[in-house]
Amino acid sequence: MAEEIRYFVLNTGAKIPSVGLGTWQSEPGVVGQAVEAAIKIGYRHIDCARAYNNEKEIGLVLKKLFDDGVVKREDLFITSKLWCKDHAPEDVPVALETTLKELQLDYIDLFLIHWPIKMKKGSVGFRPENLVTSDIPSTWKAMESLFDSGKARAIGVSNFSTKKLGNLLDIARIPPAVNQVECHPSWQQAKLKELCKSKGVHLSGYSPLGSPGSTWLKSEVLRHPVLVAVAEKLGKTPAQVCLRWGLQMGHSVLPKSTTESRIKENFDVFSWAIPDDLTVKFSEIEQARLLRGTSFVHETLGEYKTVADLWDGEI
Ligand code: A2P
Repeated sequence: MAEEIRYFVLNTGAKIPSVGLGTWQSEPGVVGQAVEAAIKIGYRHIDCARAYNNEKEIGLVLKKLFDDGVVKREDLFITSKLWCKDHAPEDVPVALETTLKELQLDYIDLFLIHWPIKMKKGSVGFRPENLVTSDIPSTWKAMESLFDSGKARAIGVSNFSTKKLGNLLDIARIPPAVNQVECHPSWQQAKLKELCKSKGVHLSGYSPLGSPGSTWLKSEVLRHPVLVAVAEKLGKTPAQVCLRWGLQMGHSVLPKSTTESRIKENFDVFSWAIPDDLTVKFSEIEQARLLRGTSFVHETLGEYKTVADLWDGEI
């Protein structure tokens, strides 16, 4: 009988459900239906962000589901993220308030610094002129105050390299509970995982399917021969194998879908397991970061001149 792996335990003691619905690139107009379908299927974890421009619609659906008695607030785990233009300490609580208002919640389960990148206050879009140098220690202090207030039940970061996470751990009064990063069989994050494990930081994997819908990424993750062969052997889909592999590696996964059949498929990963003789095959998969953050680097403007600078060489 396979171990289900329904949740992981954070350094706050809270349980983070191991499969969360991703909402990046879920268009307004469909994201609400996707969240409703997911919760009715059994998802208890929704990964949101101010930058995805769809929190208002998610909030409307959550309210309806609470009012209709479909799910209780305390049984859900909702994440949101602080956008780059709100890094100034005085803007951090205001940004959370805006997100809470849009989501129609009075607390968030997890609030993350979305990127180790600062943009000028009020910036819209990704213009390089908006990039400025970040001051993560001061932003983190403001995040700690949100944790103290109880409005954010856990705080963490996203897109932090091993070095940046280490630097934060050195100065944090409250250590980050989570680092949410790209993670899938073709970008396994071995080095970062080691640090996370040794320091009790939970790694959460975004783009766990390699973002096949982002045509600009030309992702081949789901078509990799190892995945296809393992999926065939187990009678599962490559997507399910990707997700189950993540759970067995000890990280939560945040597959995005707005298609009900796939939302269902992506949640059918608890009653079976990838046997050890097949998990070893994943070490043969060549590694490459897909989401490189090129919009955040510039030769002369902002903090990072190159993609290698942004990720401290982890590319
Ligand atoms: P859709 O929303 O139309 O279902 P990731 O979470 O790695 O960013 O991947 C999200 C992309 O993968 C979306 O384009 C989504 O499309 C697609 N997707 C989600 N679930 C599956 C699945 N089970 N099989 C194939 N593609 C999927």
